[in-house]
Amino acid sequence: MSKKTKASWAEPYKIKMVELLKMPTISQRKKMIIEAGYNTFLLKSKDVYIDLLTDSGTSAMSDRQWAGLMLGDEAYAGSENYYNLEKSVKKYYGYKYIIPTHQGRGAENILSKILIKKGDIIPGNMYFTTTRLHQELAGGTFIDVIIDEAHDSKSLHPFKGNIDLKKVEALISKYGKDKIPYICVATTVNMAGGQPISLENLKQLRTLTKKNNIKIILDMTRIAENAYFIKLREKGYSKKSIASIVKEICDQTDGATMSAKKDALVNIGGFLAINDKELFEEASNLVVVYEGLHTYGGLAGRDMEAMAIGIQESVSDNHINARIGQVLYLGEKLKEAGIPIVEPIGGHGIFLDAKRFLPHIKQDHYPAQTLAAEIYIDSGVRTMERGIVSAGRNSKTGKNYYPELELVRLTIPRRVYTQAHMDVVAESIIKVYKRKEKIKGLKMTYEPKYLRFFQAKFEKL
Ligand code: F0G
Repeated sequence: MSKKTKASWAEPYKIKMVELLKMPTISQRKKMIIEAGYNTFLLKSKDVYIDLLTDSGTSAMSDRQWAGLMLGDEAYAGSENYYNLEKSVKKYYGYKYIIPTHQGRGAENILSKILIKKGDIIPGNMYFTTTRLHQELAGGTFIDVIIDEAHDSKSLHPFKGNIDLKKVEALISKYGKDKIPYICVATTVNMAGGQPISLENLKQLRTLTKKNNIKIILDMTRIAENAYFIKLREKGYSKKSIASIVKEICDQTDGATMSAKKDALVNIGGFLAINDKELFEEASNLVVVYEGLHTYGGLAGRDMEAMAIGIQESVSDNHINARIGQVLYLGEKLKEAGIPIVEPIGGHGIFLDAKRFLPHIKQDHYPAQTLAAEIYIDSGVRTMERGIVSAGRNSKTGKNYYPELELVRLTIPRRVYTQAHMDVVAESIIKVYKRKEKIKGLKMTYEPKYLRFFQAKFEKL
């Protein structure tokens, strides 16, 4: 016995209530995917078996969060739950001021309107769909400053979410610091496959931005997952708690937008956090136009209470170990079977590399969109395209973006599925991989103007 066996881990919770799964038959699935125009966003949930479309708003809340719903203070102004949320944000993230919003993009809209002027440049560590669109709608241009390794699905760089400081310096000299209101830094970069940024890199960026009087705004949507990778991979952090690493990340920044539907374990909610009082006042004023009064921002009191509790639960070491442990379990299974996936395995899901999975399908024929549809047909498992369809078109030239990464995301909701579900998912992917040569691409038959991946329709070639 030379091989050291790793101790098993288990979920740090037990199940109190269950929701029965739907199990559509193969003939139903074939019919449904055609009706949905080969777009998994257009499937009905009742036709899905295991739903890995997203980890957004799909988490299971704890009994404490459900109890929190009953403590909803549904006052129009000054709800008790708003103050509990404010306390939680201050305690765990350290930001001075907070404005609740209905979800992450609500915060992105307000932030972009306050900080971006026409002609501004917003550097960021890879785009996110809604974030970039709000920057563009406010008159700005997003420019990617992530390290090159992030665009290579095979690179094993431990922090593929890092920012290339040379790219930032080049932008400052090209456009001038006054054209750059802030740098948008995402934790565990979604579109790169859930890849983290290191604290070392963030601190270097802080020094550079301080010198140039440029703000750092965090997209802190998956911050606890990022903290896990820092603890695991970055020198000096192995003995620190996830909570303290989360706080240290926030401390390097001037504010944040948050989609609480991910790490913060709620089904709806988000916020904008900021340290500058004047900006806070401006945002408090604007939020009443788009979301609701600044003490509820489009949420019910009970939603804010569940969020306040979820934030606390999300930074527990036990929680995050099991959460990412489950993602790793699925990823390792797929790797063992030779399935091409983005590595290192990220925080919120497994990303299949559709260019390597279906090398005979040209990017113009949507390999990732095709693969997501095939997986659904095979097993009723719903996944999502993150490739050319998601990337959309350049808003100025109208030309398609051709992203290096053409991926299918198997996003794991938090505290929802078991290890056995992961086995079923892996088996289905392996089955599809075995018949990959027979799979044909798609053509787009309907393209909406904004965020086309949500509603576009396709037909088989
Ligand atoms: N930022 C990141 C990194 C996200 O992943 C998302 C949402 C948002 C912002 C916007 O937040 O949905 O609450 O308005 N991502 C979801 C996903 C939709 O499936 O990855 P939202």
